[in-house]
Amino acid sequence: MAIIKNKSPVLFFYNNSKKWLMNISKKESLHTHIGVLKHADAIGKEYGSRLMTNKDKYVYLLEPTMYDYIMKIQHGTQIVYPKDLGYIAARAGIQDGQKILEIGTGSGSLTSFVASIVKPRGHVYTFDVDEKFMKIAEKNIRRAGVSKYVSQHNLDLKTSKDTPVTDMDVALIDLGDPWIVIPKVRQMLKGSGSIFAICPTMNQLEKLTMALVENEFTDIESTEHIIRTIEAREGKTRHSFQGIGHTTYLCFARKAFFGTRRAKTATKAKTATKAKTATKAKTATKAKTTRKITKK
Ligand SMILES: C[S@@+](CC[C@H](N)C(=O)[O-])C[C@H]1O[C@@H](n2cnc3c(N)ncnc32)[C@H](O)[C@@H]1O
Repeated sequence: MAIIKNKSPVLFFYNNSKKWLMNISKKESLHTHIGVLKHADAIGKEYGSRLMTNKDKYVYLLEPTMYDYIMKIQHGTQIVYPKDLGYIAARAGIQDGQKILEIGTGSGSLTSFVASIVKPRGHVYTFDVDEKFMKIAEKNIRRAGVSKYVSQHNLDLKTSKDTPVTDMDVALIDLGDPWIVIPKVRQMLKGSGSIFAICPTMNQLEKLTMALVENEFTDIESTEHIIRTIEAREGKTRHSFQGIGHTTYLCFARKAFFGTRRAKTATKAKTATKAKTATKAKTATKAKTTRKITKK
């Protein structure tokens, strides 16, 4: 039985649009338009129980899920929403124990979700250039309880010569110009590793796809995910009037070896060796000639 204690996280749930996520603090109260609730009254209760406000309204004490943390995230940036998160995890085959590279931590929504899947043996290595967003993400990741499985780095992989991580199972990219980091990401991914990029516009998708082909990625797929909520009530079930409009497109691909890169590298190496041998031979002939002249 899961019992609420002091400092336990609780989602105070009145209805879908009125819910509050907080950690229980025995001296605090929650003040809302439907009345006041004392945190102390939740202590000792089983998750799922309800409390009555001083205005006689019931509020349920729910144990927060990753969905709740993401929907209540502090926004520093645009975030990836649950409607896309599920598909990303399924299509990229994200699972416990994997090493994940993320470029563009933003508010840490995707980071937290992915960390909750790869834990306890896996890890998310996430990179961002903006320290302000990194601080917001750090708070959100901590609140979601997955800090142990995330390393945040302040590094621009667009310009950096470093390859800070290698042999990654999956790479997730969410920045304005993802095509620029594709050669770098290729170096950091294991063979057949998955890449996912978030592209709010079709122009970004086009440029990205071209870069993926050029850098020997296969199984390329672009999708858009639209979710419709249904209001199910006896005798009057219908689509909800509210809904999420366009958020983003998703682009998925896998690292492959087309053979052309290796062939190119081999040709380059051959040419270099030939050039070296020719230079050596030339130098040796010159030395011999010099010696002969000196002897005379
Ligand atoms: C849209 S947000 C990412 C949102 C994130 N996926 C989430 O779900 O919360 C884009 C982030 O990319 C970061 N960014 C921009 N250029 C970058 C770069 N060259 N390297 C790393 N991060 C970068 C921005 O600072 C911003 O935090």
